[in-house]
This record gives sequence, structure tokens and C-alpha cells, in this order.
Amino acid sequence: MACIDELAGRTALVTGSAQGLGAAVAQALHNAGARVLAWDVDEERNHATATRIDPGGVRVVPVCVDLADLDAVDRAYRWGRERFGPVDILVNNAARALPKLLWETTPAEWDQVFEVNVRAAFFLTRTVAVDMRAGGWGRVVNMASLAGQMARPTGAAYGASKAALIALTRVFAAELAPYGVTVNTIAPAMVDTPMVREIGKEAWAGLTAQVPVGRIAAPEEVARLAVHLAGPDAGFITGATYDINGGALMR
Ligand SMILES: NC(=O)c1ccc[n+]([C@@H]2O[C@H](COP(=O)([O-])OP(=O)(O)OC[C@H]3O[C@@H](n4cnc5c(N)ncnc54)[C@H](O)[C@@H]3O)[C@@H](O)[C@H]2O)c1
Repeated sequence: MACIDELAGRTALVTGSAQGLGAAVAQALHNAGARVLAWDVDEERNHATATRIDPGGVRVVPVCVDLADLDAVDRAYRWGRERFGPVDILVNNAARALPKLLWETTPAEWDQVFEVNVRAAFFLTRTVAVDMRAGGWGRVVNMASLAGQMARPTGAAYGASKAALIALTRVFAAELAPYGVTVNTIAPAMVDTPMVREIGKEAWAGLTAQVPVGRIAAPEEVARLAVHLAGPDAGFITGATYDINGGALMR
């Protein structure tokens, strides 16, 4: 459980903040006292979410960015930096899913998944890490998935992108450890988000049957782990992958 205001004075950047896990992470960071730059390509929904979390619009700032466009990513980072200073906490949460069999995946779809899930995470982290390194403190949390650790039909591009993110986490962690910057991965299994609710009751029952604890995760459970990894007590944790999967993968 995060202490009240343990992140006061910190500036966080969360990608994919309009809904689901990203919205829960933005809420939890806000609850812990951080200012949150909330990035999403869905401008309307992102604005509504930011207003719900912070009706005054003081500590949650919605920013419309398409992570597939690296120039836009750079511009958005500079815009935020000029107004609020460097980012202390980065949560790479946005992702594109692609539930398709091997035979159905096109080169363009493969690239779209990697553009957001891997390329944007790499270049955004590198940009933010310049400031974190200079300031001698930083926290990066990457949202991967059980799909990057375990095989499942229709998971080729998405699973490979999440495995790549886990590998990137370790390299960033190794290079940034001497500068007070930690980099960790969270690997959730199914989480109760709008995306997952769309699958229908039957598929839902099938999924929960595969989880030893007998249910899927609440977004808030994952968000609280992200806040812990972003906080002052997590300075000795880096390069780690946190499984949060109800026992679906025990190792
Ligand atoms: N929901 C789950 O069961 C689950 C399980 C394991 C891992 N995850 C991971 O957690 C993260 C969040 O999942 P979710 O279920 O909340 O997803 P979601 O699809 O509900 O939300 C993703 C958000 O990212 C935004 N986004 C997508 N492409 C973007 C782009 N190009 N630029 C900017 N924003 C973009 C979307 O607009 C959306 O608001 C993802 O990384 C996902 O892979 C989710």
C-alpha cells in the first residue's frame, strides 16, 4: 500500500492512459501525490478520464500523442518538460493487441504492433532517461504481459513484442543502474479492462478456469504494483519482471 503523498513533487508520464490499466495507473499515481502527464491517441476519452481523476485539471494533464509517430513523441515530451520539468517516473503502458493466427498476420500488422509496443517504448524511455540520468533519480515501469512469457495460439506478434519489452527492460536497467534509475517490468495475465470485457461470458469463464486463484485481476491491483515500483522504497529493485497472474505461471 502506497503511503499518502509518497510521490508528491514527482512528475509521472503514463502512456495509454485513456482507459483500462493505464487509467488505473494514472489514478493510482495521482492518489500517491504525483503530477501525471497522461498520454493517449484517443483524445476525447483521455480527456474524460483525466477530468474524472482530477476534476480541477491541476495534477493530471491529458496529452494527445500517437506513439507510432516518433516526432510527435519528441514534441509532446518537450511540451511537457517546458511546463512541468523533467519526468521522474515513466510507465510504458500503451500497447496494440493483435489476436491473429500465424497465417493471418500481415507484415503491416506486425509492424503496427512493434511500432507501439517496442519501438515507441525504446525511444521514449531513451529520451526520458537522459533527464533521469542527469537528475540521478528515475523510475521506469514497462507493462508487458504473460503473453511474453507463455505461448498461446494467436499471440505471435503481441507475444513477441512483450518478450522484447522484457528484454529491453533488462538492458535499460543494466545501463541506467549506476545513475539511480530503476527499470522494471510488470507481466500481468488477464486484467478486467474494457478490452477483455469484449470477449464475452463464455470466453471469460474459460480464462478464469485457467487461473489458480479463480479470477482475473482488477486493474487497481496492477496499478498499485506500478506505484510501488515507482516509489522511494523500490530503489534496490531493477531489471525485474513482476508476474501478477493469479498463479497462471509459477516459476
Ligand atoms: N488487459 C489485460 O488483460 C492485459 C493483460 C496483460 C497485459 N496487458 C497490458 O497492459 C497494458 C494496458 O492494457 P489495457 O487492457 O488497459 O489496454 P487497452 O487497449 O484497454 O488500452 C490501451 C490504451 O493505449 C492507447 N494506445 C494504443 N495505441 C496507441 C498509440 N499509438 N499512441 C498512444 N496511445 C495508444 C489506447 O488508445 C488505449 O487507451 C498493455 O500494455 C497490455 O498489453 C493487458
